[in-house]
Amino acid sequence: MGKGTVVLAYSGGLDTSICIPLLRERYGYDRVVTVAVNVGQRDEEIRTATEKGRKLADTHYTIDAREKFVTGYILPAIRANGSYEGYPMGTALARPLIAEEVVAVAAREGAHAVAHGCTGKGNDQLRFDFIFRMAGLDVIAPIRELNLTRDWEIDYAREHDIPVPVGKGRPWSVDENIWSRSIEGGMLEDPAYHPPEEIYAWTVSPHDAPDTPEILAIDFIKGIPHRLNDVEYGPFDLIRELNTRAGRHGIGRNNMIEDRILGLKAREIYEHPAATVLLLAHHDLEHLTLTRQELAFKHIVDEKWSELAYMGLVHEPLFHDLSAFIAQSQERVTGRVEVEMFKGCCRVLGRSSPEGLYSGDLVSFDTTSIDQCHAIGVSAYYGIQARLAEQGKRGKE
Ligand code: ARG
Repeated sequence: MGKGTVVLAYSGGLDTSICIPLLRERYGYDRVVTVAVNVGQRDEEIRTATEKGRKLADTHYTIDAREKFVTGYILPAIRANGSYEGYPMGTALARPLIAEEVVAVAAREGAHAVAHGCTGKGNDQLRFDFIFRMAGLDVIAPIRELNLTRDWEIDYAREHDIPVPVGKGRPWSVDENIWSRSIEGGMLEDPAYHPPEEIYAWTVSPHDAPDTPEILAIDFIKGIPHRLNDVEYGPFDLIRELNTRAGRHGIGRNNMIEDRILGLKAREIYEHPAATVLLLAHHDLEHLTLTRQELAFKHIVDEKWSELAYMGLVHEPLFHDLSAFIAQSQERVTGRVEVEMFKGCCRVLGRSSPEGLYSGDLVSFDTTSIDQCHAIGVSAYYGIQARLAEQGKRGKE
């Protein structure tokens, strides 16, 4: 008598594929159900995961969560200027949703156990575990628990007729969703190693980007982008379209050292063309439409929101509180930002908004609607405390 059914978060990659026989042989489960979640990775990846899941598992589900991912996770991340150590988070945003979909299948299948193929070194294990444990399920992580290495996995896969996708020539571990693509592993683990051009899939090298710049107008309503050059898009299509356009100009590459949750430093490479453009434009529009007080406080909120999102703690009560603040703060973040994309760079050319707090009439060199003499009184008391403190010091000398 085995242990019943276990539901596995399945990507079709090496780690999650060998989990299927491991869950039967080493853990004694009778049935392994695999779940692949479409969060906007390449169609081919979803197709492979579906075919392999059907072949290797007892039951397989492929779930299309693309709209949910964009509406529930990416749009809030845009409004929060969501970034961690300077790059737009992608993997971190998708993990909780993938985990939720696995939990839903576990309920449907009457399973009390769920599994993932994460190692014990990265962030994803903690992001998955948090959601799984929140649902009161038993968590199994074979790669972590059996302390497996890549070489052992490859041998085990071959013994079990599991196609091995990573050969010696292309040893990269790639994670993809509509918002970003991450590449790690192999030679890239040497932080000094210069990444070869072949690891990139969404962006051309800035060296090969067009010699003419492209100007793009992006319209936002309440912090949400909805138009590119006056053409209306649903959020998923807008991001997909912008990934193509900005990727052509080599925008959104990132090669960095990142601090993982456990404290390990890791060498990470990212591609996120649309995210780079949208976060730049959104933040610029906030500078036109929010007050100085709002901007300064929201900066702190955004940082904390991003940290919790990175950690996958999306059910932390503080995360809900911060999300409510951020949503409320976007009421006036409506307007247009025009950017120029050129040879790996995206820069803002101009912005406008019906909610803008900018007054050309007040600030202009050429107008008299402010009586400059009124500033004399302000100036008289400007920095009064610092002046008094300084005088006090001199008095004591
Ligand atoms: N370092 C990034 C993060 O923690 C990306 C991780 C990518 N994961 C992967 N299995 N390739 O969010």
